[in-house]
Order: sequence, then C-alpha cells, then structure tokens
Amino acid sequence: MKSVVVVYESQFGNTEQLAKEIAAGIEKTGEIRTFLSKPKEIEPTEIHAADAILFGCPVHAGGPTRGMKKFIGKLGKEGLSGKLTACFETYMGDHKSRAVGKMEGMIAEKLSGLTLVKPGLSALVVGFRGPLADDALQKAREFGSDFGQRLLTS
Ligand SMILES: Cc1cc2nc3c(=O)[nH]c(=O)nc-3n(C[C@H](O)[C@H](O)[C@H](O)COP(=O)(O)O)c2cc1C
Repeated sequence: MKSVVVVYESQFGNTEQLAKEIAAGIEKTGEIRTFLSKPKEIEPTEIHAADAILFGCPVHAGGPTRGMKKFIGKLGKEGLSGKLTACFETYMGDHKSRAVGKMEGMIAEKLSGLTLVKPGLSALVVGFRGPLADDALQKAREFGSDFGQRLLTS
C-alpha cells in the first residue's frame, strides 16, 4: 500500500482542517494511507517510508511560516528521489499563493528529487483566526482525491 505524509503548520486550526480534509480525499481511493505530522514531530524514517509528501501552512508575513521554511531547508539533506509532492496554504486578503509559491520555489531549488505533481491549493480564511471560506473543505477533498489518483497511476 502506498503512503503519503502530510506535513503542516497551523496556528489557529484552519490549515489543520485543510490538512485533514486533503488526507480524507487521498484515503478515499482506498489504496493509500496518510499520516499527518507537524514539521518538528516527524522522523526522517517516516519521510523515507512514504511515497509522497504534502507541505501545508498559513501565509505568515507574505510567505510560508518560519517553521515550514526551516523544515524544507533541512529536508535537503535527505534523499527524496522518486517521491511526489504538492503544497497547500491558507491566506487572507490579497496574499493568495504567497506561501504555496515560495514553498514550490524552495522545493524546486533544494529538494530536486521530489516531483511536483499539481499546482498548490490556496484556501481563503475569512478572518485572521478563520473560519475557512465556504468552499475550502470541498476543494481540499478534491485536491486530495486528485493527488491520490496521480500517486496511484505514477
Ligand atoms: C504572525 C501572522 C502573520 C500573518 N501574516 C499574513 C500575511 O502576510 N498575509 C496573509 O494573507 N495572512 C497573514 N496572516 C493570517 C493567516 O494567514 C491566517 O491567520 C491563517 O491563514 C489562519 O490559518 P491557521 O488557522 O492554520 O493558523 C498572518 C497570521 C499570523 C498569525
């Protein structure tokens, strides 16, 4: 059975909700297991054992959270060849894709073994602490389901 690790940060719980819904979409295929983890809690062996890694965080100060940038930077030391990846974020106002775009750039630069299989998911939060916009969880489930299908056919 294939497996995906979903590594995410979330200060107020909105990105965590997105992460859980993406994981549910992936698991809907019935043939992939998912593991959710915070960057500081995941072990290198868990990353090595997975077939794919998803990265998610809120936009903070116009980019990914500090913890996520640090995590992606450190992953450069691990051999990740052949694994698939994609990113997701929550944002406010006009900062759509600020975290996803920078995470994708960092992945291309530092984690060249990973294959980015689809553009990142950006979900709007209605206020600083949320909640998520109405369509966000539906989009997250579809995002996960599509990612899972791509992993199964890769
Ligand atoms: C320290 C901090 C900085 C933030 N900076 C931005 C920002 O630059 N642009 C933006 O769109 N939202 C910004 N936000 C709002 C977050 O994107 C929002 O709180 C987040 O999407 C909620 O997700 P969470 O519940 O997973 O933490 C910031 C929030 C915090 C706490």
